[in-house]
Amino acid sequence: MPNSASNISFDAASFKAQWGVYQAQANQALNAELSRLLSSVDDPLAAAMRYSTENGGKRFRAMLVYASGQCFNAASDGLDAPALALEFIHAYSLIHDDLPAMDDDDLRRGQPSCHLKFDEATAILAGDALQTLAFEILSEPNPNLSSAQQIKMVQQLAKASGASGMAGGQSLDMLATGTQTNQATLQNIHERKTGALIRVALVLGALASNDTTDQELDIISEYGHLIGLAFQVVDDILDVTQSSEMLGKQSGADAALDKNTYPALMGLTQARDYAAQLVHSAQQSLGKLKRDTAFLHQLAEFTQHREH
Ligand code: IPE
Ligand code: IPE
Ligand code: MG
Ligand code: MG
Ligand code: MG
Repeated sequence: MPNSASNISFDAASFKAQWGVYQAQANQALNAELSRLLSSVDDPLAAAMRYSTENGGKRFRAMLVYASGQCFNAASDGLDAPALALEFIHAYSLIHDDLPAMDDDDLRRGQPSCHLKFDEATAILAGDALQTLAFEILSEPNPNLSSAQQIKMVQQLAKASGASGMAGGQSLDMLATGTQTNQATLQNIHERKTGALIRVALVLGALASNDTTDQELDIISEYGHLIGLAFQVVDDILDVTQSSEMLGKQSGADAALDKNTYPALMGLTQARDYAAQLVHSAQQSLGKLKRDTAFLHQLAEFTQHREH
């Protein structure tokens, strides 16, 4: 089994190929499972749920589930449910994030935001229903996962999505908008609104395996914590440096709303340095795992250098 020293040698072409495999697996599972799960529902709500999940996206969180699962030798068939659960919670968070009451964004993944394509009530309900769909798929009988594994996953995902995680972070983000924050406060907001789901995606992948140790869980969780924070620091940077076309969402939106961001707090150069530091620390954490972490090592690089 390759050790951490071989991680760096996972070249860009192999990374891209593996990325494509995971993304295809996520998209295929998503389409199949949505057809199955929503087969009895034929109304604008189901249409809005499909619109906001099937409209692309990097599938970064699904990919983290697959990559972590593979790192810990989990059965591949047991990973679709947690991967999709993560993408459903993520899509719900984006629908609600774009609402007029929150960031009031018109554009998401290159298309009108859910509340503009449909209406506000439908968008709110589509978010709600995607959230419960995540827990439905995660708790369904699954031949590849034990009930104990499923319960752990449900608990972890619930915690990461709720008041101490994503929803709590979103609440603090709204409260802080238009006010002056310090770095500790901003870090707490970013760790919760974005970091929590990224961290838990890796944890769920690890929990799908029967032989992950508690120590390994701590290490993958630490790695996830660091790239989760880095992911939102870079999201803030891209809002300043990229075009709306490239992002598929309105660039410059943070400054327009007077949002608290890392570039606003410390300047672009320091924000970039900070993201690089976080990614470096994440890779050091990964080095403690005696597993094949080559893909996860590259995924940390992607978090820092991504263009959208
Ligand atoms: C955007 O997430 C919102 C954040 C939490 C920063 P992504 O950049 O992963 O969005 P998609 O899924 O690729 O559209
Ligand atoms: C969103 O952060 C985090 C969540 C949706 C939970 P942002 O508000 O920065 O995300 P974008 O930039 O609109 O995608
Ligand atoms: Mg927001
Ligand atoms: Mg937003
Ligand atoms: Mg943003």
